[in-house]
Amino acid sequence: MKLYIETYGCQMNVSDSEVAVSILKENGFTHTGDIHEADIILVNTCSVRENAETRVWGRLDVFRQIRKKKPEIIIGIIGCMAERLKAKLLEEGRVDLVVGPDAYRDLPRLIKQAESGKAAINVQLSCDEMYEDISPARYGSNGVSAFVSIMRGCDNMCAFCVVPFTRGRERSRDPETILQEIFELKEKRFREVTLIGQNVDKYNWKNSDASVINFASLLERVATANPELRARFSTSYPQDMTDEVLHIMAKYQNICKSIHLPMQSGSTRILELMRRGYTSEWYMGRITAIKKILPGCAISTDIITGFCGETEEDHKDTLSLMTWAKFDFAFMFKYSERPNTFAQRNYKDDVPENIKAQRLAEIIALQNKLSAESKQQDLNKVFEVLVEGFSKKSKDFLSGRNSHNKVIVFPKKNYSIGDFVQVRVIRSTSATLIGEVVKK
Ligand code: 5AD
Ligand code: SF4
Repeated sequence: MKLYIETYGCQMNVSDSEVAVSILKENGFTHTGDIHEADIILVNTCSVRENAETRVWGRLDVFRQIRKKKPEIIIGIIGCMAERLKAKLLEEGRVDLVVGPDAYRDLPRLIKQAESGKAAINVQLSCDEMYEDISPARYGSNGVSAFVSIMRGCDNMCAFCVVPFTRGRERSRDPETILQEIFELKEKRFREVTLIGQNVDKYNWKNSDASVINFASLLERVATANPELRARFSTSYPQDMTDEVLHIMAKYQNICKSIHLPMQSGSTRILELMRRGYTSEWYMGRITAIKKILPGCAISTDIITGFCGETEEDHKDTLSLMTWAKFDFAFMFKYSERPNTFAQRNYKDDVPENIKAQRLAEIIALQNKLSAESKQQDLNKVFEVLVEGFSKKSKDFLSGRNSHNKVIVFPKKNYSIGDFVQVRVIRSTSATLIGEVVKK
């Protein structure tokens, strides 16, 4: 059977889709990138905001048209929406299969069941599933850079967030299996790994002798075992990010100098309502530590605007914290109320839609200015770029990222995908830096 898979949402979903494809390949399925030759369509979904779910409903309408021409096709929803909506998804007969993030090992059996005409569902969450023995099928990969999952789940319980309900309890993966996966990637000529987890700073592995490996020591082991590889990680959490991690980053040249540290709001009052567990002063303290221990390190963030009870003053606090922190990059969102979260159960989603839109526009405009200033600072500097592919606009140009996670495009000449190239930035567009190769 031919399997087609679409992925929405975060890096963890990208990684999970690779696990799901690997499990199915082991069971005789082949992967296809062409939806029209598929016998089974899986869509790996996100529930984090309502519009992420709306997109998936739109895709299901498209799949329904495909089913009209090919009635035996199997359509499955996997991931966070599967976990959130469970059997409700089966009700209108639009899908045959519903599988939550911890149940992918059961996919082959469930698909058989769906083939026999019986709706199939497994949304059991687990306290220990890590898929650590499964070598992810890097089907959509550029062959250069790969995600390596180090944790699953989240125990933080931020008031707005659906993730603890869809991905279950926080758990860490055995470091030996992480290092083994990275070793295999290296053998396949990968050049960069990104260690991923909902909150990597909570990584915690207990050895049989009761000693503990925390995130800083895991990062150090990854860096020292693989000097020829670049290492990145995501996502950090302000409450949990330690100076120890920053010092390890400073110590190893192959750990990229880029940190994604979601602030969510610049107002301590809103952060408290969000149950984030830190104040704006604490957040500033963490940014100060990054700038001190890792001068020049890139910092990116996530911001939610229009959370319950947010006033104009709170919004101004967010803008001033952004200006103070000088983020290089940000993901910015309007608050979207999610069923069963603490906020939905206890607060009123009381900021009107037009105000949310207006505040978001102001936040985006400010970030555009900060991002432009950040790129301005890069002019004439030389960066090591890991080439990931061709520029979207021209095959005569290559595209890659520097340690700061910024995209740099430069003339191809004799360089190839997977090369590390020294590039001087000569100008920038709104999203990209343009450079020229520097001879060493
Ligand atoms: N509404 C809007 N944005 C949200 N995020 C998480 N939950 C919500 C929500 N209910 C954002 C946060 C988080 C990022 C992954 O998504 O900023 O860091
Ligand atoms: Fe979306 Fe969060 Fe699930 Fe990732 S973990 S897919 S961001 S809901």
